[in-house]
Amino acid sequence: MNEIIKFLKTRRSTTAKTMKVGHIEESDLNDILACGIRVPDHGALNPWFLTVIKDDARSRIGKEILVPEYIQNNPEATEEEIDFEKNRFLRASAVIAVLFKPVSDSKIPSWEMALSTGAVCSNILIAAQSLGYAAQWLTEWYSYNDRMIKEVDGKPGTDKLAGFIYIGNKVKEPVERRRPKTEKVINILTE
Ligand SMILES: Cc1cc2nc3c(=O)[nH]c(=O)nc-3n(C[C@H](O)[C@H](O)[C@H](O)COP(=O)(O)O)c2cc1C
Repeated sequence: MNEIIKFLKTRRSTTAKTMKVGHIEESDLNDILACGIRVPDHGALNPWFLTVIKDDARSRIGKEILVPEYIQNNPEATEEEIDFEKNRFLRASAVIAVLFKPVSDSKIPSWEMALSTGAVCSNILIAAQSLGYAAQWLTEWYSYNDRMIKEVDGKPGTDKLAGFIYIGNKVKEPVERRRPKTEKVINILTE
């Protein structure tokens, strides 16, 4: 079987919870990003923007944004929860934020721009996994937080976070999850 098909038929996400922090080769990160922005994009509008959160930025954002925003939304937050927010991005070696930035004054529907943004996330995920890294696409609560949107150069109310792709190292191979039955989700019309 073709290697790419074999990979696509078996790849799996590793949860941020179970990945470990390690080193991402600079050339790997560049390849992952290059694959991420090479996606179908009606009208070549580039209606997306990527931010790589790595090194000290992971803890800075935890302290400056996640903790205060979490406390504001959860006044009863426990020490344990606050600690988790502080270290949230430290679960990965790098986290790539993918922002949907719809282009106004375009004949291309915004829905199609959103689909292209999803393709960016998928490509980043697949590229990282193909290089052997642990990777997961997450939105969690902070994708819907205005301060977080501003942090990645977005305009709240217009731009949206399509997600954060966590990239780290695998501790062990992830087990398979439930997958759809082909006949339930695919119909083939022949006439
Ligand atoms: C847009 C989007 C957002 C997601 N957000 C979350 C999330 O916040 N929390 C979570 O546990 N899984 C989330 N997931 C699911 C996982 O990232 C992933 O799809 C699942 O673990 C299985 O992925 P796999 O088919 O690559 O193995 C999200 C998936 C997508 C497409």
